[in-house]
Amino acid sequence: MIKLSQRAERLAPSATLAMAAKANKMRKDGIDVISFATGEPDFDTPENIRNTGMQAIDEGFTRYTPSAGIPELRNSIARKLKKDNDLSYNNDEIVVTCGAKQAIYNALQVLVDAGDEVLIPAPYWVSYPEQVKLADGTPVIIPTDVNSSFKINPEIVEKHLTKNTKVIILNSPSNPTGSAYTPDELASLGEFLVKHKITIISDEIYEKLVYGDFFQKSIATACPGARDSTIVINGVSKAYAMTGWRMGYAAGPRNVISKMASLVGQQNSGIPAFVQLACIEALEGPQVEIERMKAEFKSRRDFMLESLLRIPGIVCPVPSGTFYLFPDVSSYFNESKGVADSTALAEYLLTEAHIATVSGDAFGSPGNIRFSYANSMNNIKTGMERLSTALKQLK
Ligand SMILES: Cc1ncc(COP(=O)(O)O)c(C=O)c1O
Repeated sequence: MIKLSQRAERLAPSATLAMAAKANKMRKDGIDVISFATGEPDFDTPENIRNTGMQAIDEGFTRYTPSAGIPELRNSIARKLKKDNDLSYNNDEIVVTCGAKQAIYNALQVLVDAGDEVLIPAPYWVSYPEQVKLADGTPVIIPTDVNSSFKINPEIVEKHLTKNTKVIILNSPSNPTGSAYTPDELASLGEFLVKHKITIISDEIYEKLVYGDFFQKSIATACPGARDSTIVINGVSKAYAMTGWRMGYAAGPRNVISKMASLVGQQNSGIPAFVQLACIEALEGPQVEIERMKAEFKSRRDFMLESLLRIPGIVCPVPSGTFYLFPDVSSYFNESKGVADSTALAEYLLTEAHIATVSGDAFGSPGNIRFSYANSMNNIKTGMERLSTALKQLK
């Protein structure tokens, strides 16, 4: 057998993708599985964006482009950041990447050395700790719970600081909890992080998927003093139902962004040319589809949350955004029935109730399970009935 690198040996597979694969296999075997495991909108990419992509292919926009992205797209992103976030960036302070995922990966690669510590509030998106380890950094997990609405504050962060603390990854609204920081919370966190010279990677990929009158500010806007120590991460995947197009971006200080762009140049030479034109249409064309998708997500969130809270023992705060709910289901752990933890419970729900979810273990939160409501209302209704019946059997 070929000997793998230590880096490869340390690498964990994505738990969310693993659950989706298991559910797909059951479906192929003819089992009617309802998936609450997906991390992407179930809507089609809006027609104007699809048409722009197809036209770009027809017009021969199919060659290499500058690896940081065509200037027209970077200008378009700069206009978006000004309009939505009141942040000013030049073209060379923006790099286009293969999804927000590559933007975070590359930011960590250019910021982190062996031994550097990267703060990650838990529950966290599954890729953060793995990406930190791939940069030879040390993930330092900051636990949070339902009582603090899964949010950190300067006092909590202070307890995890060491002389090696270099970076923090913030994600608001958060996958998996859906909780989001208010401008005041971001301002005080920002001031604290600036004072301690901690670089902020601010993952804002769910920024537009917020409900009611909540408005997600960037930490770089809420705390202007943090602008020069923040790498803003965003993209089109979630807001425009464009997960498969693979466009994300980072905006930040020129020295960081230019190294991130050099890294893209050595990795994949940038993203497809025609995708970049479609993304300009996404960012600058009509935005009505976002509102339609958001309205649909909101009614599903309300229905699913209500259904979950009707089940005795389940605790779930009202999330401000994303398309996830992250209830505490630990009152259903029952060792005598073989369901001792959230991984076992997610397995039980898949095999007994034919509903796919993702165990909280994957997100560093062992008492919870993640339910995605990126699924039709009919499926959500049926799935919630199945959940209720299956949980009763554990009592
Ligand atoms: C919190 C978070 N950040 C980043 C990403 C990656 O987004 P993209 O598909 O643009 O790479 C995801 C996708 O699931 C996510 O949930």
